[in-house]
Amino acid sequence: MKAIQIHEAGGPEVLRYDEVPVPGIGPGEVLVRVHAAGVNPPDWYLREGMKVMPAEMRPALEFPLIPGTDMSGVVQAVAPDVLGFAVGDEVFGMLRFPGLDGWTYAEYVAAPASDLAHKPAGIDHVQAAGAPMAVLTAWQYLVELGHDVPSPFTGRVHQPVPITPGTTVLVNGAAGGVGHFAVQLAKGKGAHVIAVASGRHEQFLRALGADEFIDYTRTQAADVVRGADLVIDTVGGPDSSRFLTVLKRGGTMLPVFFAQYDPEETARLGITVSNIQVRSNGPQLAEIGRLLDAGKLQVGVDSTYPLPEAAGAHARAAQGHIQGKIVLTVVS
Ligand SMILES: NC(=O)c1ccc[n+]([C@@H]2O[C@H](COP(=O)([O-])OP(=O)(O)OC[C@H]3O[C@@H](n4cnc5c(N)ncnc54)[C@H](OP(=O)(O)O)[C@@H]3O)[C@@H](O)[C@H]2O)c1
Repeated sequence: MKAIQIHEAGGPEVLRYDEVPVPGIGPGEVLVRVHAAGVNPPDWYLREGMKVMPAEMRPALEFPLIPGTDMSGVVQAVAPDVLGFAVGDEVFGMLRFPGLDGWTYAEYVAAPASDLAHKPAGIDHVQAAGAPMAVLTAWQYLVELGHDVPSPFTGRVHQPVPITPGTTVLVNGAAGGVGHFAVQLAKGKGAHVIAVASGRHEQFLRALGADEFIDYTRTQAADVVRGADLVIDTVGGPDSSRFLTVLKRGGTMLPVFFAQYDPEETARLGITVSNIQVRSNGPQLAEIGRLLDAGKLQVGVDSTYPLPEAAGAHARAAQGHIQGKIVLTVVS
């Protein structure tokens, strides 16, 4: 089969379109013919040699590596112990995350059945491949964690804050993969949603249900918002604490990317900070699939690239300002 491989850490140009063996399947796995593979930040972190992680947390990498965690495709073979999936089924999933062995930038992938759900019939493979990591992240922060593994960043088990009508949720980085699902999930539970993004995304985010839109290139949320119950910040970085003052006392800050807060400041403001590392979860994707099928959740597609042009997809990601998801097409 053909697959994209990384032979050394580097820029998009290290993504090579290679001939490799079709993977075998072990117990609990199914072989999937990949139709589309979603592109996520961990794919380019892996390509860069995981230098995004603090040195002491950085895993040792053995090249060559096939990147990718997310895919949608059709089942070709099923291990004897697998129940619930059959040859010919359309499936989607985020595979083996937080492991780095999803291997979805390929024509075929061996997938743990527990990481898969049936693809909603009402969406195509591109949309289904775009969803898993981004929507599971928003879901596990906002709706249900789905496991009791402590966050590797805080050592604590995250508990989502119930969102009900009357809850105000601010989403920073609202147009990106995680952000656009966070907007929709919060809105679906009746929240008043404030979306923060660059101006080009206003129409997109209002169509997804944002009640208020803040163009961060013109206005700082901290200057105009007070009393929010929840902030989900997918941008993070050194000045993450700029959002603390938009929260009410008793509010919760959900940093999705590395962020640092002064514990004395959060204690003084009465704010809880909680985060997660997203984990693969087929049953949650099945539940999310029902929302996708009913049109209650939409997958924004920023752009698509054929699998051999994965380097182009990564170059697009490096430009930033992503609206929804970048997806690789494998079967057209
Ligand atoms: N904790 C976890 O388990 C977990 C899981 C998934 C992802 N993540 C992390 O979460 C982050 C987001 O992931 P993603 O897939 O959603 O990324 P993405 O699709 O690249 O989206 C990032 C978005 O942020 C916006 N943005 C950039 N700078 C901004 C700023 N200063 N203020 C507001 N918006 C800004 C970008 O567009 P505009 O600038 O045009 O608005 C873009 O839409 C990544 O760092 C990823 O590693 C963590």
